[in-house]
Amino acid sequence: MNDRTALVTGANKGIGKHIARLLAAEGLTVYVGARDPERGRRAAEEIGAGARPLLLDVTDPDGIARAAVQVEHLDVLVNNAGISPSLAPPTDTPVEEYRRTYETNVFGVVAVTQAFLPALRRSPHPRVVNVSSGTASLTWSTGPNPQFTPGSGNGAAYRSSKAALNALTVLYAQTLAGDGFKVNALAPGLRATDLNPRAAAAGGDPAEAARGAVRLALLPDDGPTGGFFSWDGTLVPW
Ligand SMILES: NC(=O)c1ccc[n+]([C@@H]2O[C@H](COP(=O)([O-])OP(=O)(O)OC[C@H]3O[C@@H](n4cnc5c(N)ncnc54)[C@H](OP(=O)(O)O)[C@@H]3O)[C@@H](O)[C@H]2O)c1
Repeated sequence: MNDRTALVTGANKGIGKHIARLLAAEGLTVYVGARDPERGRRAAEEIGAGARPLLLDVTDPDGIARAAVQVEHLDVLVNNAGISPSLAPPTDTPVEEYRRTYETNVFGVVAVTQAFLPALRRSPHPRVVNVSSGTASLTWSTGPNPQFTPGSGNGAAYRSSKAALNALTVLYAQTLAGDGFKVNALAPGLRATDLNPRAAAAGGDPAEAARGAVRLALLPDDGPTGGFFSWDGTLVPW
């Protein structure tokens, strides 16, 4: 099992770096995806044994293609890279902000997943983890006592991008189920990272979220697929 290989996008800092560190500690060779070569090199060096930097901007099709040819075999893909440009509600969100956010959080995931599918298909136990957000849950956003209202839990562009990511998670999971894939979405919880000031102020430990991602990344063959899981392993309603 020690020749397993993983790629984590946006792994130079935040939750992604913790995921890369934990997967390396499990004995996997981990490609530390980063759009900046120096930040990626530094992160891989800090993680140490098993970590290799991989230049990967998820919005750059040529760069994705160059990265994909460097990875022959892949067991785990963690689509972690994400942006959250503002906390604006839909009434104050320019179309341009949606485009920019979807470019990374949705189209970036699609482009990377498609590019690395051939390498994943060479794995006997391919796993894909899409790092989503609890704020994307339409159930948690509606009902008599919504957990997230338009003014809370990140902006409309971000939340709707992660809802689209959830939909894609289901479609990929169903399409690839016959090929042994497990494709799941993760709600990491509010974590103290650079992503947004609210998360930083809340102070949740990003390493805790990373453990949830690793659980999904190393699911056994009888594990679930097409699910939306919280960092603690419980199901999140869509
Ligand atoms: N923190 C939370 O409370 C929270 C809650 C729910 C979901 N999430 C999700 O968790 C994931 C990780 O976020 P985080 O909190 O760890 O935030 P973070 O510390 O800001 O990390 C985001 C990572 O994504 C990378 N990234 C952004 N755009 C990229 C691109 N075009 N190509 C490649 N990498 C790119 C960043 O690289 P640079 O350093 O180059 O910018 C960084 O490495 C995201 O998908 C986020 O939506 C976070």
